[in-house]
Amino acid sequence: MISNTSTPGPIGVFDSGFGGLSVLREIRRALPQYDYLFLGDNARAPYGSRSFDLVYTFTLQAVRHLFDQGCQLVILACNTASAKALRTIQQHDLPVLDPNRRVLGVIRPTVEKVGDITHTGHVGIFGTPGTIQSQSYNIEISKLHPSFKVYGQACPMWVPLVENQESNGPGADYFVQKYINALLSQSSKIDSVILGCTHYPLLLGKIEQYMPAGITVIPQGAIVADSLAYYLHRHPEMEQRCRRGGTCRFLTTEDSEKFDSLAGVFLGETVSAEKITL
Ligand code: DGL
Repeated sequence: MISNTSTPGPIGVFDSGFGGLSVLREIRRALPQYDYLFLGDNARAPYGSRSFDLVYTFTLQAVRHLFDQGCQLVILACNTASAKALRTIQQHDLPVLDPNRRVLGVIRPTVEKVGDITHTGHVGIFGTPGTIQSQSYNIEISKLHPSFKVYGQACPMWVPLVENQESNGPGADYFVQKYINALLSQSSKIDSVILGCTHYPLLLGKIEQYMPAGITVIPQGAIVADSLAYYLHRHPEMEQRCRRGGTCRFLTTEDSEKFDSLAGVFLGETVSAEKITL
């Protein structure tokens, strides 16, 4: 049972694994004044090929853990969880757990931005098999921009490459080219491609290397950070529940040494995660 409290707490940031760090990094850059608690469920990543039920169950466990740790606001820095679990958690679980806390995702803020970027209205989405199958991007984009055409490409090998610290290896070159070719073969009019998985910015160098000139690659971190800043501006009651202090703690369900080495390199700071069980 979650204790019903309004005591300010850290902003929770959750992902199946390392990907959420690409969002956390940008949120901390934009909003350095708050405390953060990052949780990576590395032991059970990837989520991208798992069923709706399992992604929902794992995500709810993580949200409950972050609430238990005092978070009033949790960002699902994971497209797969945003696609498969967010709505049920917001509509079904939050009213029971604590109606004053909030859980936000990453798909809606990204979709709100894409209209400013594409000129052709032909938008590509790279995502996990779960995110692409859910059609969440197609549904959200069609609400805001009914004339846009959306082309999804599942990239099942990209998250395992990142989780296994192979982002710079030759396997990454092969699979980055493979999925870019598969996406672009769907339409020659695509001019913007959303990285609809928070792990993919860890492959950004290679994605930009192999993406033809003239196509804009859109990572989500800065978009989500701007959207969170605007959310807190519009919701002073929640802003007051976000503790200020500028600290960041890390939790992982896997071996913490493995987490610390990649997270440290990616964030450019020493990371010392605690191993937890969900
Ligand atoms: N980083 C996550 C996302 O944005 C999940 C990747 C995975 O676990 O498959 O979709």
